[in-house]
Amino acid sequence: MTSISPPSDKHWWKEPIEKAELIWIAIVVVWGIILTLMMPFWHVYGKQNLSSEAYKTTPEVYMKKVQAGVDQYTVRTDNGKPVVKPPVGSDVYMLGRLWEWWPVLELQVGQSYRLHLASMDWQHGWSLQPANLNVQVLPGYDMVMTVTPNKVGEYSIVCNEYCGIGHHMMLGKIHVVE
Ligand code: CUA
Repeated sequence: MTSISPPSDKHWWKEPIEKAELIWIAIVVVWGIILTLMMPFWHVYGKQNLSSEAYKTTPEVYMKKVQAGVDQYTVRTDNGKPVVKPPVGSDVYMLGRLWEWWPVLELQVGQSYRLHLASMDWQHGWSLQPANLNVQVLPGYDMVMTVTPNKVGEYSIVCNEYCGIGHHMMLGKIHVVE
């Protein structure tokens, strides 16, 4: 078999690599290592990506837990949504669905809770502002984080994963009180 334009040097793959190319390869490798190390570093020092646990669930099973919290610990309503004030140290449930975070939570400052998040339909992004904590929320998974609110105030939750026509209106709230 012959080629129309065979290479003049048959050992073209043994050519020495240009110095400039070697420098670029070295830069890419070093930068890749830095970016890789930034992930665990930022997890520990950036304080924006929480350590979370993930458990399998279903929308039906999860909904029952959210509803149980609402039935037991609702203290008032806020714009038609129940405001749930769960016992300190307990498991606290919030869900994401088209297009809201539900219910509103009221937590005590300086106390720890096991916060559960799950989606009833598809992927949403739970983004707590202005603290800027971000969690991916997926159907079929119960994401659990131990949280200790450290500042009194009203925190907004927005959705930061595009989820359709009502994405920009997908809001929620957490009150942190004394
Ligand atoms: Cu939910 Cu965007």
